[in-house]
Amino acid sequence: MEEVESFIQRNTTEFNQPESWYQLLITDQETKAVIGDIGIHFIGDENVQVELGITLNTSFQGKGYASEALKGTIDFLFNDLQKHRITASVDPDNTASLQLMQRIGLRKEGHFVKSLFWKNKWVDDIIYAVLREEWVTE
Ligand SMILES: CC(C)(COP(=O)(O)OP(=O)(O)OC[C@H]1O[C@@H](n2cnc3c(N)ncnc32)[C@H](O)[C@@H]1OP(=O)(O)O)[C@@H](O)C(=O)NCCC(=O)NCCS
Repeated sequence: MEEVESFIQRNTTEFNQPESWYQLLITDQETKAVIGDIGIHFIGDENVQVELGITLNTSFQGKGYASEALKGTIDFLFNDLQKHRITASVDPDNTASLQLMQRIGLRKEGHFVKSLFWKNKWVDDIIYAVLREEWVTE
C-alpha cells in the first residue's frame, strides 16, 4: 500500500505537463468497469516526446482491448497534441507486450543489454518507437 500511495503522489493531476507521468484508465465501454491503465510519460521540458506503458487486468487480456486503447491514445497524442515521437520500453521476455507493440505498428529501434537495474539485477530493455509522420490513423 505504501508503494501505491507513493506512486499516486508522484503522478500529476494535470494532463500533458512537461516531465510528468499521467495515468489513464481503460474502462469497459458497456459496464464502465476499470480493466487497465495506460501510463503516459511526457518527456522533458520540451514535452514533444512521450513514453507509454500499458497494463490490462488478466481477465480482459487476449481480446484486443490493449491494442484498441493504445491505438486510440496514440491517435490523440499525435493528432490532437501534435507530439513528435512515441516510445515504449519492453522487457525482452514479455512476449505479449512485444507482440502488442508490433501489432499496433511501433518499430523496434534497439535492444539494450543490461541497461536497467530492476529488482536488484541488471536487465535488458527493448525500445519501440513511432514518429508522427509514420503513424496512420484508422
Ligand atoms: C501487454 C498487455 C497489455 C497485452 O495485452 P493483450 O491482451 O495481449 O493485447 P491485446 O489487447 O492487443 O490483445 C491481443 C490478443 O487478443 C486477440 N484478439 C481477440 N480479438 C481481437 C481483436 N478484436 N483485435 C485484436 N486482437 C484480438 C489477439 O489475437 C491476441 O491474441 P494472442 O495474444 O493469442 O495473439 C498484457 O499482456 C498485460 O497487461 N501485461 C502485463 C503488464 C505489462 O507487461 N505491460 C507491458 C508494459 S509496456
